[in-house]
Amino acid sequence: MTDNQSKSASLIGRAARDPRAARLVRHALNALCMLALPLALAPTAAFAKPPIDSEAALIAHGNYIVHRVGMCTDCHTPKDDHGMPIGAQDLQGAELHFTPDVPVPGFTNRSVRLAGLPAGYTEAQLATFLETGHTANGGMARPPMPAYRLNEHDARAVAAYLHSLN
Ligand code: HEC
Repeated sequence: MTDNQSKSASLIGRAARDPRAARLVRHALNALCMLALPLALAPTAAFAKPPIDSEAALIAHGNYIVHRVGMCTDCHTPKDDHGMPIGAQDLQGAELHFTPDVPVPGFTNRSVRLAGLPAGYTEAQLATFLETGHTANGGMARPPMPAYRLNEHDARAVAAYLHSLN
């Protein structure tokens, strides 16, 4: 037995009887665990990297933004007589079923077709429009089209999704 081994053996022996020694042993074990934790986590960190953003993942994210966040369908999908969106005509452009209470300059009650990309837009131009509000020809869309300020990833995802549609 080395000196150190006999010391720790006697410390553990004392810890069984003496609460102060027990606390010391607990602290030592805690310190050991703190040291071991980063080592134990190191291999999982390699797997925790975000997945590569495949085209399919980008399109799925765009679908989510269009249908669940931006609610583009509220204005860009034709409605039936009960005001319900017509699934078979999703994002084909629509007549809006509402008008403003007060005069809104430029208000238009006709939205454009988005499926397959709006006319005159490349995917990159559409992404820029969704990030800045600037249309492909450098203007602004008329109300009630919102001037979205999506982040670059979300804007690219929406453009990729709309491009993937017919
Ligand atoms: C509140 C209704 C409304 C919502 C919600 C809406 N839009 Fe629109 N959008 C319109 C209208 C109306 C127009 C036509 C504007 C015009 O003619 O100037 C339009 C036009 C557009 C245009 C063409 C812009 C141009 O003038 O070049 C694009 C692109 C577009 N919308 C994309 C989207 C996307 C993508 C979403 C969802 C993230 C969305 N819109 C949500 C009403 C809406």
